[in-house]
Parts: sequence; structure tokens; C-alpha cells
Amino acid sequence: MMQQLGLITGASSGIGRSLAHEHARRGRDLLIVARREDELNELADELRERYSVAVRVVAKDLTDPASRREIFELVEGQGLTVDYLFNNAGFGGAGQFHEQDWDMLSGMMELNMRAVAELMHLFVPGMVARGRGRVLNTSSTAGFMPGPLQAVYFATKAFVNSVSKAVASELQGTGVTVTALCPGAVKTDFADTAGLSESKLFESAATPQTTAAQGYTAMEAGRLEVITEVGLAVAIKGLMPFIPERLAMAGVKKIQS
Ligand SMILES: NC(=O)c1ccc[n+]([C@@H]2O[C@H](COP(=O)([O-])OP(=O)(O)OC[C@H]3O[C@@H](n4cnc5c(N)ncnc54)[C@H](OP(=O)(O)O)[C@@H]3O)[C@@H](O)[C@H]2O)c1
Repeated sequence: MMQQLGLITGASSGIGRSLAHEHARRGRDLLIVARREDELNELADELRERYSVAVRVVAKDLTDPASRREIFELVEGQGLTVDYLFNNAGFGGAGQFHEQDWDMLSGMMELNMRAVAELMHLFVPGMVARGRGRVLNTSSTAGFMPGPLQAVYFATKAFVNSVSKAVASELQGTGVTVTALCPGAVKTDFADTAGLSESKLFESAATPQTTAAQGYTAMEAGRLEVITEVGLAVAIKGLMPFIPERLAMAGVKKIQS
């Protein structure tokens, strides 16, 4: 029987890997998902050894629409219950929208939005029936504004922020909470994947460890969202509403390039 099982997508690197450590160090079991099976197995061994928890590895490409139901059926088939869902897998891609590869953008929307919504849709009913559960969706500060030169990525994170908070509101009183984790720049493989490794954004980036720790604490407190950098929180909540949108977007464009 697995205890306080957490399902983490995108656990093979970066923030997801650190979320796995946060979960396991509390003595809680894990089911970790990503495409790279070797990295997942290596992480699983490390977590079992360090924290004496049970860890299952499921290698799946979450852009495949069938994958989400396959994971759910695997969990159900083994008589497991997911008490913690971490929708963390995601990627970005910089460039002019009209010049970007459609298959890449389409995959980004599939992973960053549809997989997040579908996994919540599959696992939240069981949580509600049991009267307890936690969902942490890794969103981004990108979700609070339109993002020229990363137009689709920013839009996918606006979706994650919106759906997370609305579902959290619906679930009030059920014992199930949904939290959006909104980091600024974090030192992970993300910048390379997104074609942003030259961007100034990542010069003073946070670590995945502190980002995951802040997200985990906010999730346990049942908060709606957590913006992991104070300066960004002030800019987003305090200043942006008063700045003309074209000016704000010019700023975003400058930072991306
Ligand atoms: N780094 C930042 O600056 C930053 C800032 C704000 C928000 N975020 C968000 O944080 C989350 C995690 O990103 P990260 O920064 O930790 O980057 P990362 O190190 O590149 O991690 C991305 C994770 O997602 C997994 N993944 C990618 N495509 C997948 C697919 N098709 N199917 C299943 N898993 C897939 C990757 O594993 P495999 O390659 O093994 O599949 C990896 O484990 C993302 O949602 C990202 O948007 C990052």
C-alpha cells in the first residue's frame, strides 16, 4: 500500500525533480512521470535510498492524448490512490509567433494546457470522494501578462493560472485544494529548451530547490497561488495594472530578446 502518494509530471529534471525530493523527504511515496526513463530510474533509486519511500516510474510522453488516461488506468489497476497531483511538465519556445514551428507550438499547448486539465479531471474526483487531496500546478509569472516573443507559452500559463484558481474556488469545502506555482526565471533545462539561454532573464535565476520548496509549502497551506519572487509579485500585482499594456509588453519583449 502506497502512503500519501504523489504523482509528479516532469520529474526527470528541474523543478519537478526538486518537487520529488520535497515530497519524499516527508516520507511520502511517489509515482514519477516524464519521457526519459533512465533519469526517472536514477531519481527513483536516489529517493528510495535517501528517504526509504516507495517510488514507481512511468515513462510517458504527455503530449500523446492517450497517455493521461493510460496513467490513470495504471493507478486504478494497481489499486492506488493519488493524494497529491503535481502537474509540472511543460516547456517554452521563444521566437516570432508567425515564424515558429506549428508542431512545436501545438505540442506545447497539448502538454502545458490539455495534459494539466485532463490529469486534474481524472484524479480530482477521487480526491473529492475521499474528502482530501492537493493539486500543485506549475504555472509561471508568464501567466499574468501577454508575452511577445513567447506568445503561446505565456498564453498557456494564463490558462493554467485561470483554470487552477477557478477549480480551487469550486472545490472550497471539499478538502481538496489547487495551487498555482508561479516562478520567475529558474535555473533548469527550461532556458535551453525554449531557446532562451542567451536571455538576461536567466542571469539571476532562482534555483529549482527553493522554487519547489516554496511551491510545496504553498500547496500544503492550500493557497491559491504563490509567486516565488517578491520583486515580481510587487510588479505584477502592484504596478502592472497601472502601466499601459503596450508599454508592459515592450518591456517583456526586451527581456525575452
Ligand atoms: N525554468 C524556468 O525559468 C521556469 C519558470 C516558470 C515556470 N516554469 C515551468 O516549470 C515547469 C518545469 O520546468 P523546468 O524549469 O523544471 O524545466 P525542465 O528542467 O526542462 O523540466 C521539464 C520537465 O518536463 C518534462 N517533459 C517535457 N516534455 C514532456 C513530455 N512531452 N511528456 C512528459 N514530460 C515532459 C521533462 O522530462 P523529459 O524530457 O524526460 O520528458 C522534464 O522533466 C514547466 O511547466 C515550466 O513551464 C519554469
